[in-house]
Amino acid sequence: MSTTAEELAKRQAIIDACRRMNALGINQGTSGNISVRHVDGLLVTPTSVPYEAMTPDQIVFMAMDGTHAPDQKPSSEWRFHRDILKSRGDVNAVVHAHPTYCTILAIMGMEIPPVHYMIAAAGGDSIRCAPYATFGTVELSEHAVRALEGRLACLLDHHGMIAIGKTLDKAMWLAVEVETLARQYHGCLQIGKPPLLPSEEIERVRQRMAGYGLSEG
Ligand code: 13P
Repeated sequence: MSTTAEELAKRQAIIDACRRMNALGINQGTSGNISVRHVDGLLVTPTSVPYEAMTPDQIVFMAMDGTHAPDQKPSSEWRFHRDILKSRGDVNAVVHAHPTYCTILAIMGMEIPPVHYMIAAAGGDSIRCAPYATFGTVELSEHAVRALEGRLACLLDHHGMIAIGKTLDKAMWLAVEVETLARQYHGCLQIGKPPLLPSEEIERVRQRMAGYGLSEG
């Protein structure tokens, strides 16, 4: 099977994004994984390959039924990548990482409330925390898809974070933004109970963002 220049560029972009996640400090080691929609399936990172050593041919092409070349090993989290891309026609990229502040809140089973107007970039007035389930399971995937309903990001209880978007760049940008929000919320909680912005204001911001270039997705 020959790889087109477009597919090769997507494979390299996934590797670059993985390396960026660690350089930006929103992930550690090989804890994260990334996928991008491709043709009638997805390109997803391989399991447990250090990002520095990852090569374009190791990125797995997976059909929407979960099948892939037998000699390839997709991320252990391929199921939620596949299920999100399958159920969300508005989304073409999925970024999963274990950013420290997101994970601190997720361990506590907390969602991120509207402490800052930038939460609107994640599609609504909260970033939900999906209930815990073992990594790689159908259950975790179902929880993640539900927590992402009408949203572009969620936390995963005792685990980490997922950010999704129309493009890989947008999903990456949002992943960094969600970690910033988690950090700000965590900081506020050291002082007391933070006052929240009303839902109507978040909706107003969401609409303004669309005209500002910070459109969702
Ligand atoms: P992979 O190396 O299989 O992608 O798994 C890491 C992970 O994030 C498990 O949640």
